[in-house]
Amino acid sequence: MRAVVMHETGGPDVLQLEDVDPPEPGEGEVLIRVHAASVNPIDWKMRRGGPGRPLPAVLGIDASGTVEVSRTEGFGEGDEVFGRASGAYAELATAPAGQIARKPAELSHEQAAAIPVAGMTAWQGLFDHGGLERGQTALIAGAAGGVGHFAVQFAHVAGARVIGTGSSRNRDFVLGLGADEYVDYTQQEVGEAVGGADLAFDTVGGDTTASLVSAVGEGGMLVTIANAPPEEAARGRGVRTELHVMSPKSEQLARIAELVAIGDVRVEIAEAMPLADVKRAHELSESGHVRGKLVLTVTT
Ligand SMILES: NC(=O)c1ccc[n+]([C@@H]2O[C@H](COP(=O)([O-])OP(=O)(O)OC[C@H]3O[C@@H](n4cnc5c(N)ncnc54)[C@H](OP(=O)(O)O)[C@@H]3O)[C@@H](O)[C@H]2O)c1
Repeated sequence: MRAVVMHETGGPDVLQLEDVDPPEPGEGEVLIRVHAASVNPIDWKMRRGGPGRPLPAVLGIDASGTVEVSRTEGFGEGDEVFGRASGAYAELATAPAGQIARKPAELSHEQAAAIPVAGMTAWQGLFDHGGLERGQTALIAGAAGGVGHFAVQFAHVAGARVIGTGSSRNRDFVLGLGADEYVDYTQQEVGEAVGGADLAFDTVGGDTTASLVSAVGEGGMLVTIANAPPEEAARGRGVRTELHVMSPKSEQLARIAELVAIGDVRVEIAEAMPLADVKRAHELSESGHVRGKLVLTVTT
């Protein structure tokens, strides 16, 4: 099969399209013929060398495609599925049954491949960890990104008041997703512009994480997916903090796909490009300014 193989860590040039043996699904797994994969920042963080994985390696953890071999009762050959896979930058990839769901016919493989990591991270950050409820205010930092654009829409659909942050070029996009307010971080300090939020969801990291503490009201919560939480500063203001690491769940994938299928949530694809363009995809993702998701089309 054709796959993007990494023999050493480093810059985008270490990604090579090669012929390799296909992976074998283990017990409880499926082998997926990948039609589309999406790019996540963790991919280029791994490419750069951390968190480590044995080399040579095939990157990519988001896939949508057709089950070719099933070693689980839940899925059969020919099923169209999407989810959290292993080695998704390839024509064939494996995934445990508990990390995939059936792809609704209304979704393209490109749309479905864009969902797993970003969608579930947003869902879990807002609801499982953030406890967001109808009528509350959610501040989404990085509202135009892969995780952020899902978070804005999920919070809006859940009946929360949503404040999104991003640069000026993403204002109309984020407001169009259902945000009630927008803070342009290039013009204003987010922590000064916003106060009293019930939940701040940080997808940006760096200095942004600590700056969000002052945007949260006493008793509120700061959930970050991109940094160590500023525990001491937050405690001093009566704000709880949590570092959230996504853990894949089939039923959440199915719920998110259903919201997309009925038109309540849209998947923003910044660009879909062939697998052979993976180096450019990584360069774009590393710029930190992609709107929505980058998708790699594998087989059609
Ligand atoms: N813990 C977990 O389980 C988990 C899961 C998924 C992702 N992550 C991490 O979460 C982070 C975000 O992931 P992602 O896929 O959403 O990344 P992404 O799609 O690459 O995010 C890009 C977006 O970030 C926005 N942005 C950049 N700097 C900003 C700032 N200072 N304030 C507000 N927005 C800013 C950009 O908007 P502008 O162009 O308008 O600046 C752009 O739309 C990454 O570090 C990733 O590794 C963690």
